[in-house]
Amino acid sequence: MSTDSAQATERRRTLTTVLSTADAIPVTEGADPGLAYGYAGELKAMLIPAEMLQAKVSELARAVADDHAGDQPPVLVCVLKGAVMFLTDFVRALPIPAELEFMAVSSYGSATSSSGVVRILKDLDRDITGRRVIIVEDIIDSGLTLSWLHKNLASRGAASIDVVALLRKPAAVTTDIDVKYVGFDIPPEFVVGYGLDYAERYRDLPFVGLLAEHMYR
Ligand code: IMP
Ligand code: MG
Repeated sequence: MSTDSAQATERRRTLTTVLSTADAIPVTEGADPGLAYGYAGELKAMLIPAEMLQAKVSELARAVADDHAGDQPPVLVCVLKGAVMFLTDFVRALPIPAELEFMAVSSYGSATSSSGVVRILKDLDRDITGRRVIIVEDIIDSGLTLSWLHKNLASRGAASIDVVALLRKPAAVTTDIDVKYVGFDIPPEFVVGYGLDYAERYRDLPFVGLLAEHMYR
C-alpha cells in the first residue's frame, strides 16, 4: 500500500472535499429542501446539494478511470442498498468499461451504528478470481463493514481491491483499509439522502442532508 508515488498520494488528497458542520445550510420553514420530496420538517440542514454530488461523482470516476485504463474491465462491487445511487451515477460517469456486481449484507447493530458482524444476504453472481475489484461504498463510518468486505473479497482471489467511497466520517481513521478514493470527509453527524437511509426513509433524496434530531432520538 505504500508503493504509491508521492504524486498519487497528493492527487488522492486533493480529490477529497472536507466539509465541516459550518458548511451545512440550516433548514428554515421557508426553505426546506425535504419539502418537495415529502419530508417536510424532517431535516435540519442541507450538507451536499445535488449539483455538488454530481460534480464529485464525475471527478471520482475520472480518477478511477485514470488508474484502471488499459486493464481488463474492473468489477464494481456495490453494496446494497445505500451505495445504489452513487453506483449508478458513478458508472455512467466512468469513461472506461466496467462490470457490475451487487452484494447485500446485514450488519448486526443498532439503526445508527454498526457492529462489524456481517451476514451475506445476497452474494456476487460471478467468480472474481484474478479480477480487479473496486468496492463502491456510500459511506465509511467505523469502517467495520468495509474491513469485513475487503477481507471477504480478498479471500476469493481478486487480483486487486480498491475502494471508492462517496463519504467518510471521522471515525474511519481507525480502519485498517486504505480507501483510495474518497469524495467528501464529513462531520460526525447522521446523514441521509442519495441512497442513505434512516429506517429505509430518505434514500430517494437527490442530495445529502442532516436528519433532524427529533426524527431519531
Ligand atoms: P460502518 O461499518 O460503521 O463503516 O458503517 C457503514 C454503514 O453504516 C454504511 O454503509 C451505512 O449503511 C451505515 N451508515 C453509517 N453512517 C451513516 C449515516 O450517517 N447515515 C446513514 N447510514 C449510515
Ligand atoms: Mg443503512
